[in-house]
Amino acid sequence: MVYITRKEYFCASHRLFNESFTDEKNLETFGKCSNPAGHGHNYELSVTVAGEPDPKTGMIIDLKKLSDLIKEEIINHVDHKNLNVDVDFLQGVIPTTENLARIFWKILNPKIKLGKLYSIQISETAKNFTEYRGE
Ligand code: NI
Repeated sequence: MVYITRKEYFCASHRLFNESFTDEKNLETFGKCSNPAGHGHNYELSVTVAGEPDPKTGMIIDLKKLSDLIKEEIINHVDHKNLNVDVDFLQGVIPTTENLARIFWKILNPKIKLGKLYSIQISETAKNFTEYRGE
């Protein structure tokens, strides 16, 4: 099995909060990410596809096509948006990278026909990233 990854980038704002929590509890739980007026991140989104390379092309999947798919299905909907209010498929979701990874998986998984979606990684900062493998 071979694993191939396409990385895309987007900028977005969000606020992490649970509306049933007090402001103090939101601050204690989500830290700076609960700032009431929101804040932004430069997100990195990596999508890994697993498969056997086609002997005729040497490729599992055309990375340009994978890039186009990620842009059409995800990036165009979230880039320069407020993740709490602007994005149809994130309504009612606390926009943590954990939740984003699961939702992006649900969107992309049925659309990947060559190879098999293996993992989705998302980072908001250089120090942290989240990985989801559909389990
Ligand atoms: Ni944040």
